[in-house]
Amino acid sequence: MVSTFELEIVNSTNKKEKPSQDQVPFGTIFTDHMLTMEYSSDQGWHEPKITPYAPITLDPAAMIFHYGQTVFEGMKAYRTEDGRVLLFRPEKNFERLNLSSERLSIPPVDEKLMLEYLTKLIELEKDWVPSTPGTSLYIRPFIISTEANLAVAPAQSYKFMVILSPVGSYFPGGMKPVIIHVEDQFTRAVKGGTGMAKTAGNYSSGYQAQAQAKQAGNADVLWLDGVEKKYIEEVGSMNIFFKIDGEVLTPELNGSILKGITRTSIIELLNSWGIPVTERKISIQEIYQAFADGKIEEVFGTGTAAVISPVGELNWQGRKMVVNNHEIGELSQKLYDTITSIQTGKVEDALGWTVEVK
Ligand code: COI
Repeated sequence: MVSTFELEIVNSTNKKEKPSQDQVPFGTIFTDHMLTMEYSSDQGWHEPKITPYAPITLDPAAMIFHYGQTVFEGMKAYRTEDGRVLLFRPEKNFERLNLSSERLSIPPVDEKLMLEYLTKLIELEKDWVPSTPGTSLYIRPFIISTEANLAVAPAQSYKFMVILSPVGSYFPGGMKPVIIHVEDQFTRAVKGGTGMAKTAGNYSSGYQAQAQAKQAGNADVLWLDGVEKKYIEEVGSMNIFFKIDGEVLTPELNGSILKGITRTSIIELLNSWGIPVTERKISIQEIYQAFADGKIEEVFGTGTAAVISPVGELNWQGRKMVVNNHEIGELSQKLYDTITSIQTGKVEDALGWTVEVK
């Protein structure tokens, strides 16, 4: 049951200072307001509110703390040169939020209504959308289970929230090729698990591998399939693409990989340029062989937070694969320039991806 009630707006009387435009960190600064909505099994989703950004109170027995029944999304609002604010394919995020919720036994939200409420929130926080190249307003919608109950079962009450954070680049150093560790001990997801859902446990379960990889000088981890540790899945914060001997490849969606909205957009963009993308199983051995044969031209990750992030080196079982001499590849650069130009309204949005917040 999805019920609709009028959105209540309470304005903040204590506005925060905004970060300096040339030093926007990732995910540590939050705007003046947030959106909340409650769910109970008898009322459905109700009480949508925009209120001053503040801590929330939860019962220590709230089920989110114990069994991690939660989902989230990541999307962005961009500032155009003429001062307008654009969202990028926002309907896809609410569609995916409901898919993640289905997997986590969380009741669905009304996608159109959520976009309406989000638009109201962004309208109110428009001044927080930064304008320097590479910056944006990161939007984090999420749902947590709030019922106080230690039973291992879906909760009867939930909270939906949207918080906003002005951000710069996800990886420190901006659009600079990153070094990635290919993980062959720990597992992120398996077929039939929650890998396709944007849920907390998929991320925190990777921290141990991530910490080890970082200690060895890598920026993140590339996950292999959980059964054979043979096939490439995704990086902790992004999907991955390869350009090998002129062909663009990315792992096929198999239920354990996140269906990235930037991933889909890059495939559609490349197709619109007449460049086909092969989505199939790709083994790490095949990548190593292509490297040994000198055929790897480019590797890059795609994600809302990461945008297009070139990969300059892959480390697998003590073997170092340097890609394109640690330099940004021509295709990665072109994709980055094109997608960010669409997102910030610099070029015509021929594919109809952006939505203006008036
Ligand atoms: C995103 O790209 O928006 C993500 O959610 C990835 C990461 C920051 C968790």
